Amino acid sequence: MEKHTESIVKFQNISKVFPGVKALDGVSFDIKKGEIHALLGENGAGKSTLLNTLHGVNNVYEGTVEIKGRKVSYKNANEAIQDGIVKIHQEVSLIPELTVGQNIALGHEPRKGMFIDYKKLHQEANAILSKMKCSFKSEDIAGTLSTGEMQMIAIAKGLYHNAQLISFDEPTASLSNQEVRTLFSIINDLKENGITILYVSHRLDEVFDICDRATVLRDGKHIETFNIKDVNREQLIKKMVGRDVSAYAVRTKPSPKTNQKVLEVEDLSVKGVFEDVSFHLHKGEILGFAGLVGSKRTDVVRAIFGAEQKSGGTVKINGVTVNIKSPKQGVQLGIGLIPENRKTQGFIKYFDNANNVGLTKMEKFTKFGLLNHTKKMENCNYYIDEINLKPSDPHYMTSHLSGGNQQKVVIAKWLSSDAEILILDEPTKGVDVGAKAEIYRVLEELLEKGKSIIVVSSELPEVLGLSDRIIVMREGRKVKEFENHNLTEEDILQYAMGVNSDVKNEGI
Ligand SMILES: Nc1ncnc2c1ncn2[C@@H]1O[C@H](COP(=O)(O)OP(=O)(O)OP(=O)(O)O)[C@@H](O)[C@H]1O
Ligand SMILES: [Mg+2]
Repeated sequence: MEKHTESIVKFQNISKVFPGVKALDGVSFDIKKGEIHALLGENGAGKSTLLNTLHGVNNVYEGTVEIKGRKVSYKNANEAIQDGIVKIHQEVSLIPELTVGQNIALGHEPRKGMFIDYKKLHQEANAILSKMKCSFKSEDIAGTLSTGEMQMIAIAKGLYHNAQLISFDEPTASLSNQEVRTLFSIINDLKENGITILYVSHRLDEVFDICDRATVLRDGKHIETFNIKDVNREQLIKKMVGRDVSAYAVRTKPSPKTNQKVLEVEDLSVKGVFEDVSFHLHKGEILGFAGLVGSKRTDVVRAIFGAEQKSGGTVKINGVTVNIKSPKQGVQLGIGLIPENRKTQGFIKYFDNANNVGLTKMEKFTKFGLLNHTKKMENCNYYIDEINLKPSDPHYMTSHLSGGNQQKVVIAKWLSSDAEILILDEPTKGVDVGAKAEIYRVLEELLEKGKSIIVVSSELPEVLGLSDRIIVMREGRKVKEFENHNLTEEDILQYAMGVNSDVKNEGI
């Protein structure tokens, strides 16, 4: 028999309107004390808005939020924290010059008379860190730690404030595999200690791994709340998207790969980062770059594009040696790079969608100094449709879109560019399953139009599903090149992790 469990959070009829969008529309459900509850849905479904409502970041809304049977209306995130309702931000903001302990206790330091009692502060912080099995200490300087470790500090900070519920909004997007494992074991420990977890992720494997129940939102509406063990992957996706989509990256058309080399890279190096990377890209193919986080794949593609200065090696485009010194030159020579960090490198904050999507084409749309507005709008509308942007309004400010939809705008900008060589760094990070399938389809269309594509991805099924050939990198070296025939994840991992290697002198 199901054991009766009390609710820690009760959402009742929550609605939230932004100009032109109903982000939440009468959402009601409960979160039970001590469970790991997934909040799922497509990009723009309202997940982050609901979290903001719970945590006092959004304090203007309709409906009621109850915490342990008491109606609350937090004015800001700090008030929520005082109640033990803690949110771990995706981009953890710490003061890098301060110690770990100072960051954890910030604003609530134990005092001895007028002074901060540092001894007590570090004792208390270290007790929490050791409970979390962290390998760093309260006395360490925060700025020296990795992204994953900084996230640990944010969790420790929550525990310092006696957290009863901790929310995570896509916490694993920038973590290494090892860091993900550590985070999951901490989340499970938190659960053991009776702490409730609210978990937002587009990675369904994670949801099946750690979550007890899930709530699906679609277009701001509550669709269903259910036990994770009662559904399979396909059923879950259908609830989220409202239709059948393939959960996996697959090529649906024969590869138009030719033998013509559009890009030849020889012994490319950036001193102290990566060394002697050589490969070529054929017209009409997708070349995948696999490797663990930190294997320097991003640096390689940035150096080709001119965003990092090479210290050695040559790059040829269509057989001609080029010396690309800036992204501007890269673009002029027909390369497009869709960066991994699209939030900060991808779009202009004060532009609407039409202008952001049209960015790489503005010159084309301009004749005798006049911008052809109709062409710009046609271009934008076409891609808004292709990538299923929500809301599909070309005049919507890109900065007001949900995280995943902002990413789609940046992707559309490059897809609509004239680049012959497109490089996509983690193209589907933070993008929902439905949009993933749409991006894959657009990539295939681009191949048919004669473009050539490099995809850097940490998701092995994605690299395997999309690529004609695959290059594996480790610690700043190319360690393997595969034709993608009957390859498995294990084949790639053996090289990515160093069990196997085709180069003798590894690492730099
Ligand atoms: N500050 C804002 N101004 C205007 N509209 C907003 C704002 N924040 C969110 N929205 C809109 O509210 C809707 C819900 O956005 P929300 O960020 O909650 O989605 P999400 O489910 O978190 O999506 P994702 O998976 O992409 O992160 C979207 O249509 C978005 O454009
Ligand atoms: Mg979000």
